[in-house]
Amino acid sequence: MAAMLEISDLVGGYGSVQILNGASLKVETGQIAALLGGNGTGKSTLLKATSGLIKPWAGTITFDGERIDGLRPDTIVRRGLVQVTQGKEAFPAMTVEENLKLGAYVVRSRARMAAALERVYGYFPVLKDKRRQLSGTLSGGQLQMVCIGRGLMSSPKMIMLDEPSAALAPQVVMEIFRTIHRISRDGMTVLMVEQNVRMALLLAAYGYVIKDGVIHLEGPADKMIHDDNVRLSYLGGTVANREARL
Ligand SMILES: Nc1ncnc2c1ncn2[C@@H]1O[C@H](COP(=O)(O)OP(=O)(O)OP(=O)(O)O)[C@@H](O)[C@H]1O
Ligand SMILES: [Mg+2]
Repeated sequence: MAAMLEISDLVGGYGSVQILNGASLKVETGQIAALLGGNGTGKSTLLKATSGLIKPWAGTITFDGERIDGLRPDTIVRRGLVQVTQGKEAFPAMTVEENLKLGAYVVRSRARMAAALERVYGYFPVLKDKRRQLSGTLSGGQLQMVCIGRGLMSSPKMIMLDEPSAALAPQVVMEIFRTIHRISRDGMTVLMVEQNVRMALLLAAYGYVIKDGVIHLEGPADKMIHDDNVRLSYLGGTVANREARL
């Protein structure tokens, strides 16, 4: 299998503060990979450096066979790599459909825009019902759906999700994870940052743990879920509940 995304020795940060200290990871084509780690360890920074929202200081990022490090975020979106940022950011005074369409700024044809909208509504039917509603009136779960849907609007090859299940009710978390599973089954490559370690490892094929801006642990997700270091640090020391499998 060829890697869709390969990050090598990535260094970066904000101003003069270095956060990423040589992080390397790889996401195979069609795979879901999970990026785990404690608060402030550099997970979001790694995604932002990959999607071009911040400029990497050193290291290489290869996406779909071509170098993308240092490119502008819109160029990276055009290449087919999209990031859904942490924190469910959407414009509250715009409708659901207007917010979704913002994700299609690289799509020129109206027919392709309409097809992309229908695909998003297929994943999130509730958004179709609420398409003319202002985004400010949505629940947290629906807002997260808008953010993921907006990311899908440019029909990317790969999507990076930053804590898609954060601060959502348990049933909504399940719904979001099931939809990520569907999106992956339909052919999308996924890199997902998650605090919900157990769910992330049940969904993903491969896991990475970042600590102090470097990858500290990695492995196949089904091995990692039984790994004592991961269990003790991130799974509360309990045996993984296989019943929770999607
Ligand atoms: N825009 C910024 N300017 C300066 N420092 C920042 C900025 N964003 C993040 N940081 C700092 O960089 C470090 C890593 O932050 P990052 O957001 O990558 O962590 P994270 O692993 O995503 O954590 P969380 O689980 O809280 O989302 C933290 O110390 C944070 O305070
Ligand atoms: Mg973060």
